[in-house]
Amino acid sequence: MATTVMTGGTSGFGRVAAERLTGSGEARQLILGARRRTKPAAGESVALPLDLTELSSVRAFAVSVLERLDGAPVDALVLNAGVIRPDVAGRTADGFETTFAVNHLAHYLLIRLLLPALREGALVVLTTSGTYDAATKAGLTPPRHAEADLLAHPDRDPGRDSRPRKAGEHAYTASKLCAVLTARSLSVLPARRLTAIAYDPGQVFGTGLAGGLSLPLRTAWSLLGTPVLRRPLRRLNPHFNTRTAAGNALADLVLGNAAPPKGRVLAALRRGRIVWPEDVSELARRDDVAQALWEDSARLAGLAAAG
Ligand SMILES: NC(=O)c1ccc[n+]([C@@H]2O[C@H](COP(=O)([O-])OP(=O)(O)OC[C@H]3O[C@@H](n4cnc5c(N)ncnc54)[C@H](OP(=O)(O)O)[C@@H]3O)[C@@H](O)[C@H]2O)c1
Repeated sequence: MATTVMTGGTSGFGRVAAERLTGSGEARQLILGARRRTKPAAGESVALPLDLTELSSVRAFAVSVLERLDGAPVDALVLNAGVIRPDVAGRTADGFETTFAVNHLAHYLLIRLLLPALREGALVVLTTSGTYDAATKAGLTPPRHAEADLLAHPDRDPGRDSRPRKAGEHAYTASKLCAVLTARSLSVLPARRLTAIAYDPGQVFGTGLAGGLSLPLRTAWSLLGTPVLRRPLRRLNPHFNTRTAAGNALADLVLGNAAPPKGRVLAALRRGRIVWPEDVSELARRDDVAQALWEDSARLAGLAAAG
């Protein structure tokens, strides 16, 4: 039976993907990491406790997954959980800036802990966002760098924007740059043959993502997700997608219904269709940036650098 381990499958478009994966008609076991008690998606699935704001919780989750697998391999690892915050004031239990820690560092640690259990040729999908690249003109402050130490401790970043909202946006877009860079590093791991995909779902209004933002932004996010506004907006902008389309596309990637052309790691959902952009941003192309992120993340997560 194929096994998928997934974060961020409890709400938003990840929930749609989780339901599709367990109802796909295939014999597929889905192990969800969830921070609150949740009714698992239908089918063969289980939810185990995971709070990405605590590295100790990531470690405990990995142990529970391995115990449950009892030596069976993982076919797909889907790292979809994510947050965006109004500033960079939040710190996790480990003392790291919350958006960076949840979106990147906790997922990095989970990858490293589950790496030995991934079967040869396994798939790792990391949910990124078009906002990682200034060229998409997504409207959020684009990342200036992917330096793990500065992202973990933004007060040490000499280029930090003093406006809280802009700094919060930077934390988010930089964490999504980290997802693309981590996918690139995984796709060339010397010790393992893996397929790694950074999935950009486009703009998916109406999910829980805006829950931590200001009331006006939350309200706009919900309104833009209603069917009456969603439809005309989707015609205007190819980046706008429904929750259903974004979730189904994620499931399609996991089920192998859409596979990357050789040498590509970025999958983007445009007008409901998965495309494989050839160009990634200048920062996302840099091997030195990807390698430094891998090694510095290992140090911050308390691991040896080698993968
Ligand atoms: N919506 C968009 O326009 C958009 C665009 C580009 C990228 N993305 C990315 O897509 C992914 C899914 O976003 P969404 O829009 O569907 O948002 P969402 O509805 O808020 O879903 C986020 C998921 O992450 C989980 N999560 C958050 N913090 C967690 C923590 N500390 N520990 C464990 N799980 C945690 C949530 O769990 P709970 O159910 O417990 O809240 C939920 O399952 C995110 O990575 C987001 O950055 C979204």
